[in-house]
Amino acid sequence: MGVVASAPAKIILFGEHFVVYGEPAIVLAINKRAYVKIETTHDHNLHLRSTTLNLSGCFEGNSFKIEQGNAREARIRFEPVKHAVNSVLEKNSKPVGLDIEINSSIPAGAGLGSSAAVVAASAAAAGALLDVKLSKEDIFRITYEAEKVVHGNPSGVDPAISTFGGAIIFQVDTGFKPLDVREEIPLVIGETGVERSTRAQVEKVKIIVEKYPRIVENIMKAAREVVLRAIDAFKENDLETLGALMNINHALLYGIGVSDESLEWLANAARKAGALGAKLTGAGGGGCLIALSENGKLQQVSEAIQRAGGIPFIARKTDDGVRIERS
Ligand code: MEV
Repeated sequence: MGVVASAPAKIILFGEHFVVYGEPAIVLAINKRAYVKIETTHDHNLHLRSTTLNLSGCFEGNSFKIEQGNAREARIRFEPVKHAVNSVLEKNSKPVGLDIEINSSIPAGAGLGSSAAVVAASAAAAGALLDVKLSKEDIFRITYEAEKVVHGNPSGVDPAISTFGGAIIFQVDTGFKPLDVREEIPLVIGETGVERSTRAQVEKVKIIVEKYPRIVENIMKAAREVVLRAIDAFKENDLETLGALMNINHALLYGIGVSDESLEWLANAARKAGALGAKLTGAGGGGCLIALSENGKLQQVSEAIQRAGGIPFIARKTDDGVRIERS
């Protein structure tokens, strides 16, 4: 039978990239989830399969054998899962092999935190299966360490939101604080269909930061002000201000080189159709756009995103972080 755990996707409403340099970010868990089923096997290997990505392979110690799909892609997707599950296995006295099946409705490489959600769900499922007690804090730590394997220098924002759910203000130095979002935030997400690597995007920003330190310092300061103003706007449920701040945040991200043509098309289309604001979310360079819209205009903003070549869906906040679905 095995154990099934799940964890949510996320959108960064404000502060991506700048968060890597210590600035605050505002993040929301949304109603798309990654599901991971884990069973024990008779050998001592880790067998991994992603039904959504049509990938499967097996780790025998450190050597990886591809069974289905592209070996490089499989390794990138599976390596952090192996890392997380091994951290749980280390806390278990008996050596066991595991069969891990990933089933995710979160588009991969799209800025919605699919990797962190899969890893957090894997750690939780392995813990429940092997009777290793893990607090949410433990799952966050394990997921964060595993994310470092593929993402280089991540801030920890993706593991935090996938683990804890809800809406949070995240900062590297101080960790996370829940943000009280009382009203539904009407958001349309537009997938550009352009896949990119978070690591490559973060490295691209690093080059700009090093080349133009004094200019970027001011951009960072503006990004911080945007987040602080947004916290007040959430308290007042002031959607108009939140929309304007999203546009400013997008412009700052454009300035550090992480937008692209596909995102600009969708952002312009959404704004023209009446969105209060639009910005890229996550690492950028493709991935997803988010558009804030009054409830009455969600449909027309969605249609405009579709006409501009994107795949739209309406996102809802979820308070459920990582959870065991079946044990
Ligand atoms: C990726 O979802 C968010 C980035 O800010 C990277 C990070 O915070 O680790 C681009």
